[in-house]
Amino acid sequence: MERRTIGAGALAVGAVGLGCMPMSWAYSASRQRGEESLRAVHRALDLGVSLLDTADMYGPFTNELLLGRVLKERRQDAFVSTKVGLLVGEQHIVANGRPGYVRRACDASLRRLQTDVIDLYQLHRADPEVPVEETWGAMADLVRAGKVRALGLCAVGARGGRRTPGPRLYDATLRQLRRVQQVFPVSAVQAELSVWSPEALDALLPWCAERGVGFLAAMPLGNGFLTGTLRPGAGFEPADLRARHPRFTAEMMAANQPIVAGLRRIARRHGEDVTAAQVALAWVLSRGRQVIPVPGTKQERWVTQNAAAAGLRLTPRDLAEIDGLPAAQGSWD
Ligand SMILES: NC(=O)c1ccc[n+]([C@@H]2O[C@H](COP(=O)([O-])OP(=O)(O)OC[C@H]3O[C@@H](n4cnc5c(N)ncnc54)[C@H](OP(=O)(O)O)[C@@H]3O)[C@@H](O)[C@H]2O)c1
Repeated sequence: MERRTIGAGALAVGAVGLGCMPMSWAYSASRQRGEESLRAVHRALDLGVSLLDTADMYGPFTNELLLGRVLKERRQDAFVSTKVGLLVGEQHIVANGRPGYVRRACDASLRRLQTDVIDLYQLHRADPEVPVEETWGAMADLVRAGKVRALGLCAVGARGGRRTPGPRLYDATLRQLRRVQQVFPVSAVQAELSVWSPEALDALLPWCAERGVGFLAAMPLGNGFLTGTLRPGAGFEPADLRARHPRFTAEMMAANQPIVAGLRRIARRHGEDVTAAQVALAWVLSRGRQVIPVPGTKQERWVTQNAAAAGLRLTPRDLAEIDGLPAAQGSWD
């Protein structure tokens, strides 16, 4: 698989990464099967999909524990990317950016991941009660202590972590990036980027490109929608984030079908086995050499399919057709 680099330290990873969140968090709990997820992670590493993206809050904690079972045996094949700064409380998810907490959280992640170093440690959300420079300074100390190799920042919402793609969200992220960059170099930014959520292209990617900062494209498959495997109106379990997501009502899923149809049309031109998911990922990969999509899955078959997207080259005609697809309907608020 093609390799791409992250940050000034030029850390090399497979061009397609693996988002591990669906193995333990955010999607249907009844479909989370540990053994299947373990097979998916092994398959990823076999195929050169080295960047494994997780967070201490996924589960909480169980996602890192799961990865630790693989890393114990295959640490040299993987690039471990985890996150700090969010805690799952009784009622809400809360931010904690206090330096002492960051230090303890890192040690706990290292134990769960069964490793002595985290390749990329990302600030999941800044704590509104703590100047971000203090949190970032504590993270920088972890690099100096050899517990972490590089630092990353996840895009933040203007309203306390709520995910709202658009200029307001990325303005806040850019302000944070400028502040933390004064303290210690940013090696990667993680934000949503997909055919139906392209906002980061103009708002964040240029900042990364100018500085050689990696860009981890979260939700590159539009939470599964862009794969064309979800049926409008089929419904989601209450714990599935899509049950409350405005773009996943039956009405909006039906309204956005032309996007999937367009991706399928392009896929067919590339061969019978090529899928809409692969076209969606190839589009993300085509946005810049510093972009690394982290499609989420817990299934070996999807890992295999998504890894193959690294070899799919979209033509100028394909790219023009994707540009011409209708904008997604359904606000995020
Ligand atoms: N920084 C942040 O705040 C943040 C927020 C959200 C996500 N992320 C990161 O981004 C990663 C990706 O986001 P995501 O997982 O929410 O969304 P996604 O990658 O856009 O979509 C994931 C969904 O697509 C399905 N899928 C994956 N490959 C497929 C294929 N080839 N064909 C059909 N279906 C396929 C998965 O199904 P199965 O689950 O059944 O395999 C899963 O339901 C996460 O895992 C996480 O690491 C970060």
